[in-house]
Amino acid sequence: MKPGTRISGVGAYAPERVMTNADLERMVDTSDGWISERTGIRERRIAAPEEASSDLALKAAERALEAAGLEAVDLDMIIVGTVTPDLPFPACAAFLQRKLGARNIPAFDISAACAGFLYAMSIGDQYIKTGTHRHILIVGVELLSRILDWEDRTTCILFGDGAGAAVLSPTEDARGIRSTRLYTDPSLTDSLCIRAGGSKLPLTAESLDAKLDKVYMNGQDIFKVAVKNLSGASLEALAAAGMRSEDITWVVPHQANIRIIAQVAQRIGVPLERFILNIDRYGNTSSASIPLALYEGVNDGRIKPGDTVLMCALGAGVSWASALVDI
Ligand code: ACO
Repeated sequence: MKPGTRISGVGAYAPERVMTNADLERMVDTSDGWISERTGIRERRIAAPEEASSDLALKAAERALEAAGLEAVDLDMIIVGTVTPDLPFPACAAFLQRKLGARNIPAFDISAACAGFLYAMSIGDQYIKTGTHRHILIVGVELLSRILDWEDRTTCILFGDGAGAAVLSPTEDARGIRSTRLYTDPSLTDSLCIRAGGSKLPLTAESLDAKLDKVYMNGQDIFKVAVKNLSGASLEALAAAGMRSEDITWVVPHQANIRIIAQVAQRIGVPLERFILNIDRYGNTSSASIPLALYEGVNDGRIKPGDTVLMCALGAGVSWASALVDI
């Protein structure tokens, strides 16, 4: 019998420094009231100057390995979802591999922005289900504070730094990943991007002056497509599994904006009380957001073995994804 894939351990790490909405009030023309009412965010974490993405990823990965009862040398693959790798190349996964002391296994990054962790989960799932690999570390990590324009109130208030990780392992019992679904619609590539620093427009004094190396976003474009596509991907996952919204124990959504999450909850028919939410404390940590919330839910005992968890995420690309997992 071919193995299934289960999540054998989860871990997360957020930097110590807390930046509150009151701190932001002193930096840009904004208010705690505006930010919390429009987004649900009250504070976010900001990495220390000496921390790189692979340092955050290392701490999350060590916790996930410990929860799985495994050592780094047991890993057969490392996949990191990130848009803020340590360097443009080589992959953040290679730096993480070295810091972990893993063997010479495949280690690579996935660029799917906020959907990066679920993209990594889907890829890892395929390798385990075909039986070629056993233990795969998947990570979502971002240091978004490094790529924000701290004078742009429309973006800098939204994001934070963090890392989350999970170990995927083979299983022969009924628990595990039921399905993962991945999508990309390129019609909004220009609505959320970094406009310079790649092959199209390398960094120059002019592009740096114009802050084209920082996050650019048309928030309303992304808001609308997020509600539609997160709901669609979730409902498709349920329909394909022959399940109804009542069958879901918990939803662990990408934490971008509480209003997006509330509208998704309404469309998929799962009350907000069954969502694991931490956007108030971390803001939008892109690919780290789902594993940060999953870790909290598992660690505080809300998510229990046997629970069915629906995860969904959307970000730049726009790329989005869902996963249906029995924990
Ligand atoms: N503080 C105070 N006022 C602000 C701020 C701020 N930080 N930012 C914008 N405003 C002002 C605007 O200038 C505008 O003023 P005006 O009416 O005088 O022109 C007013 O507030 C309303 O601005 P909108 O852009 O219409 O506000 P909206 O309700 O759309 O909220 C937001 C903006 C929060 C960005 C929302 O569009 C959003 O969350 N979009 C989703 C984007 C997102 O989360 N992207 C992350 C990556 S993708 C993902 O993770 C899903």
